[in-house]
Amino acid sequence: MLGSSALRIVASSLAVSSLALFCTDRTIADTAAREAAAWWSPGSNRVFAARADYADTTGTVSVLNARGQVETRDHPFFSPIGSNGRACVTCHQPADGMSLSVATIRARWRETEGKDPLFASIDGSNCPSLPQESASSHSLLLDRGLFRIARPWPPRAPTGVPVTPQFSIEVVRDPSGCNLDPRFGLHGLHPAVSVFRRPRPVANLKYVTSYGFIFEPKNGLPLPIDIQTGLRYSGNLLADQRARTLTEQALDAFSSHLERRGAPGSEEMRAILEFELQVYVAQSADAIGGQLGAAGAEGGPEALASAKPAVLKGSDHPSWSEFDGWTHEDATATPAQRAYRASVARGVTLFRDRTFLITDSAGLNSMNFGNPTRDSCAFCHNMTRTGMDVAPGQVDLGTTNEPFADPAPDLPLFKLTCDPRYPAHPFLGRVVYTHDPGFALTTGKCADIGKITIQDMRGLAARPPYFSNGSAATLRDVIEYYERRYSIGLTEQEKQDLTNLLSAL
Ligand code: HEC
Ligand code: HEC
Repeated sequence: MLGSSALRIVASSLAVSSLALFCTDRTIADTAAREAAAWWSPGSNRVFAARADYADTTGTVSVLNARGQVETRDHPFFSPIGSNGRACVTCHQPADGMSLSVATIRARWRETEGKDPLFASIDGSNCPSLPQESASSHSLLLDRGLFRIARPWPPRAPTGVPVTPQFSIEVVRDPSGCNLDPRFGLHGLHPAVSVFRRPRPVANLKYVTSYGFIFEPKNGLPLPIDIQTGLRYSGNLLADQRARTLTEQALDAFSSHLERRGAPGSEEMRAILEFELQVYVAQSADAIGGQLGAAGAEGGPEALASAKPAVLKGSDHPSWSEFDGWTHEDATATPAQRAYRASVARGVTLFRDRTFLITDSAGLNSMNFGNPTRDSCAFCHNMTRTGMDVAPGQVDLGTTNEPFADPAPDLPLFKLTCDPRYPAHPFLGRVVYTHDPGFALTTGKCADIGKITIQDMRGLAARPPYFSNGSAATLRDVIEYYERRYSIGLTEQEKQDLTNLLSAL
């Protein structure tokens, strides 16, 4: 989060005109044929082109391999190198913007009758102890696109060192059965808290791993340095920041998602990191608006690859400068294109300038910024081109904590009671009900309950649903969540403009 105006990223101001209203949350094109053609199986030994385009919910998403085409034969990202037949690509599919949409998951279930390694019991089912052939045992994956993430209890820091938690945890509701399971649950041999999360995109990671300051603006402390690379940790990986670097993340993915025994070789690790850091994803065309790079705009992944992340200067917020060109009308565009482009351009301005009262959001209002603080979407999503946070972006937006979380009877519900010796949660007190304690499962701190890391905002149209717990089915639902959460008072037109912007990223 950016505090004083001196810390803000430069923005270009947009003059927008024209009122147009139309919907971009178009029906999901969930045709089995398209999904089958686009699906990337582990070990398929295809060549991954330098640029690949795929149809998605509102147009086309493009995946750019900035170092040129990738030969995937024996490549560790694309090969089933664990024990369950999965590869990294199983859950990070090019056609889904290097994440995985719920439409693709359902199509895969239908086509393989639930036999794809994607549905492996370890985390592709509600709990490994359930009968695996039944769709109901995979309901969180099939309904919400969520994988089970088992976090050790008591919590462990990214170094693996156990942390003394500042709270106790009780299972209030356990629809998956896994938190009370005698083997996999909180009281099992290896006590674990099972939370359910969306795959975050493996793309644009240059932005995810970069930082705007050498200190954390929220508390003034220096960002720690990775002794292997000499670089500081951005603090922006995974919903709970349980890994500080891409290397730590890959080690975690090897042992959990791939069920691989034994450490990966250094050559495997090198190949994975090299691939991860050169792959870029963005929406490149809209079904109504046409090419997002047309008429002076810079949509699509190319600009992401060449630009530098988090250029901090001046006193303005960042904007999605990609669409600067669209503040001027293009005489060659059709009326429908002009209306769409004007709407996206207004969305850019709203994202940066439409202020509202941000209240009771731990990690933000609890720090130096006051409660409430009047600001805009760009206050938290402040990095150029990806909407990441230039500071470690763990914020309790309310997506997983009651009372703001959407009712989700199919998700687990935990009661966390904070030990009176430690500071309580700044806004929710000593007893917090949550679907996912988020960052607190890494730090053990009461103040961190329900904080979830901000994620990359490009290629969104290729990977519904949204938020770490999949609670927003569409981009319009994301906007409706913010409307409810902060009582913004957005007009119908403003909601559409913001939705159109998100669908063009
Ligand atoms: C079974 C599905 C699955 C497989 C297989 C898988 N991932 Fe993931 N990946 C996820 C999920 C779910 C998350 C988000 C977890 C969270 O936030 O706690 C994630 C997150 C990530 C992230 C973090 C991105 C960010 O912005 O924080 C990276 C990087 C990543 N995966 C790389 C890999 C690599 C490398 C492999 C192979 C070694 C792999 N994944 C295999 C499901 C999977
Ligand atoms: C108080 C900080 C804050 C503000 C203000 C904020 N966001 Fe967010 N945003 C977050 C956090 C934290 C997440 C991750 C939450 C989660 O995954 O549960 C998020 C997630 C998102 C996502 C989901 C991305 C994905 O891949 O699932 C979108 C889209 C988004 N925000 C758009 C917006 C828009 C539009 C606004 C303005 C109306 C806005 N945000 C205002 C903090 C903020």
